[in-house]
Amino acid sequence: FLVQETSSTQDEARRLAREGFPPGSVVAAERQTAGRGRFPERRWQAEEGKNLLFTIRLDAACARLPALPLRVGAALCRAAIAQAGTIGAAVRPEDIRLKWPNDLLIRGRKAAGILCEAGGEGVFAGIGVNCNQRSFPNGFGATSLALEFGVEVDRWRFLGLFLGALKSELENDDWRAGIEELLWKRGERVTFIPGLPGRGEPVEGRIAGIDPAGSLLIAAEEGAAPLAFAAGELRRARGAS
Ligand code: BTN
Repeated sequence: FLVQETSSTQDEARRLAREGFPPGSVVAAERQTAGRGRFPERRWQAEEGKNLLFTIRLDAACARLPALPLRVGAALCRAAIAQAGTIGAAVRPEDIRLKWPNDLLIRGRKAAGILCEAGGEGVFAGIGVNCNQRSFPNGFGATSLALEFGVEVDRWRFLGLFLGALKSELENDDWRAGIEELLWKRGERVTFIPGLPGRGEPVEGRIAGIDPAGSLLIAAEEGAAPLAFAAGELRRARGAS
């Protein structure tokens, strides 16, 4: 389902769900007037007609799946890797990474973000993918598939690849190892700010992986058991590239 303009595809998907659109339905928009980010102060802004802005309604049972946002993020990574491969893009699979909990990074820059909201008619996974937009006036550290791949991309092909990858990711009980392989900075030193943005005391350590609930494991000291964090934000370690 494609609309030209909406406040947010999250609102549009909820409205359609109330009208009977079943789980698995996707609503996309060419333009959002109030696109939401994961945090209230971060609006999602995108040039009209160049990107993918969509929400998929998932079954209410998905709310009980461990690490749902991570799995959605992993599906985005797999779609980007597959599309890059088929068009011979100037990017290696290892340049396409999942920044915990669910940002798609290409060469360390953010190309897509995910907002999962549950309640009412089920789970709504809202996804913004920068596809063919080439300049990001306010987007510090933002990029697009076209900028990184070196060619324009077929947005709807990306959507198809993503939906296929999401199905496999949600059906895979053995999701953890595959996602750990995709993690940005896995095994490297990072700074982690636990909890809500700007609230927690930074933790420095090495990314050790994710636990069975999808929490991020950070080894603050060599040899000590890693600490698990359910929420927070990853940064590059001070002085790291
Ligand atoms: C983030 O990185 O903070 C998440 C961004 C999610 C943006 C998408 S765009 C489509 C969907 N509708 C919204 O209002 N937000 C999500």
